[in-house]
Amino acid sequence: MDTHRLSTLKALLGRFPRIDLGFFPTPLHTLPRLGRTVGHDHLWAKRDDLTGLGLGGNKVRSLEFFLGQALAEGADVIITAGGLQSNLCRLTAAAAAKVGLECVLVHNDDRPAFYQGNMLLSHLFGAREVFLGRVDEEARARAVEDVAAQLRRTGRRPYVVANGASTPLGVLGYVRATAELCEQWSGLSGGAAGACSAGAPSGGVSSARVSPAANLAPSSPPIRQVAMVGAMAGTVSGLVLGVALLGHPFHVQVISVEYPEPHLRGLIHDLGARAWALLRAAEAPAELGPDPESDAFADWLNAAMTIHGDYLGPGYAIPTELSRRVLFDAARLEGLLVEDVYTSKTLAGLLDLIHRGVITRGEPCCFWHTGGLAALFAQADKLQP
Ligand SMILES: Cc1ncc(COP(=O)(O)O)c(C=O)c1O
Repeated sequence: MDTHRLSTLKALLGRFPRIDLGFFPTPLHTLPRLGRTVGHDHLWAKRDDLTGLGLGGNKVRSLEFFLGQALAEGADVIITAGGLQSNLCRLTAAAAAKVGLECVLVHNDDRPAFYQGNMLLSHLFGAREVFLGRVDEEARARAVEDVAAQLRRTGRRPYVVANGASTPLGVLGYVRATAELCEQWSGLSGGAAGACSAGAPSGGVSSARVSPAANLAPSSPPIRQVAMVGAMAGTVSGLVLGVALLGHPFHVQVISVEYPEPHLRGLIHDLGARAWALLRAAEAPAELGPDPESDAFADWLNAAMTIHGDYLGPGYAIPTELSRRVLFDAARLEGLLVEDVYTSKTLAGLLDLIHRGVITRGEPCCFWHTGGLAALFAQADKLQP
C-alpha cells in the first residue's frame, strides 16, 4: 500500500463538492461464530448498513456527492426513481429532508394499499410520490425527465439522481470508501498490516472507529479479500476503481445479484472508466492509472476483481437455498441482519468461496455489508416460521 497514492487520491476526491450525510468510518469488526462455520478465523464485516442516515446503507456515500453537487448548483428539489422497496428512494428522501430540500420519488408501480418497509420510511421523510403503474425502467426514466421539466416550468430547480445512483459521480462514493477501509485497517492494526497499511490516520475519512467487537490482535494479518455486491454496479465500480488506484491493496470478490457475469463486467468497466475520466478531468496525476480509453485500463481493473455470476440463482431478489440459510445463520450466530435482495447472496457467496478453498483459511477477508434492511420487513411473508 502506497501512502502517496492514498493522500493523492484523497486530495483529488476533495475537489468535488460533497456534504456530510453519514457517520464515517463505518464499523469494521470480526464475525467469529459465522467464520467458524467454514473453518475461517479471520472473517470481517464492514458495516455500511450503519452509515447512519435514515436506516443506513451504501447509497449514503453516493448521495454525499450528489447532494453536494445539487446544493452547489442551487437545486431546490431532488428527484429519483425506483421500485416500491427502493433503498435509494428511501435514502434520497432522508438526505433531502436532512438538507431541507423537497424530494420527489417516481415509482414504477401502483400506489400500495399498505405502506411498509422503504415506502413507509420515504413517506415519513416527507417525500412526494408519483406512481406510474407497472412500466419498465426506460418509461420510468422518461417520466423522471417529465417531472423535472414540469418543475422547471414552474420556476423550480430540480436535481435528478439518475440510474439507481450508478453514475460516474455516484461511483466516487465507494472510491472514497476504499480509502476509508485502508486507513481504518491501518489505524486498527497500528499501521502494521501490509496490504492496507496506509499510514497514520489524519482526519477526514481516516479516523478509525474501533468497534467494541473488533477483536483485533496486534498481529492481525491484512485483509486480502473483500466481498462486495454487484447490481447496477455503481457501488462495486467505486470499490474496484479505488482498489486499482490505491495499487491493488486487496482483491474484490464481486457477487452478482442482478445480471450474468459478462453484463456486470461491462457495467463495471463502463462506470469505472467514466468515473476515472471524471477524476482525471479534476487533474488527477497521470501516474495514478492508465488512460480510461486504453487496453491497459481493462487489465488494470480486471486485476482488482473476480466476478461471480453463480450466486444469483433464479434471478434478482429471488433467494437461493444457500442465501436463505446464510440469512438465518448470520442472524442466529452473530445477531447480524442481511436481507434477500443484496446482502444474503453476497455473504453466502463469500462463505462459499471460503468453503471451496478459493479464499484460503489463513487469508483475512471481509464482507462489505451494504444495508437494505428496511426491505426485510417487506419480505416478512417469506420469512415466517
Ligand atoms: C442495500 C443495497 N445493497 C447493494 C445495492 C447494489 O448497488 P449497485 O446497484 O450500486 O450495484 C443496492 C442498490 O440499490 C442496495 O440498495
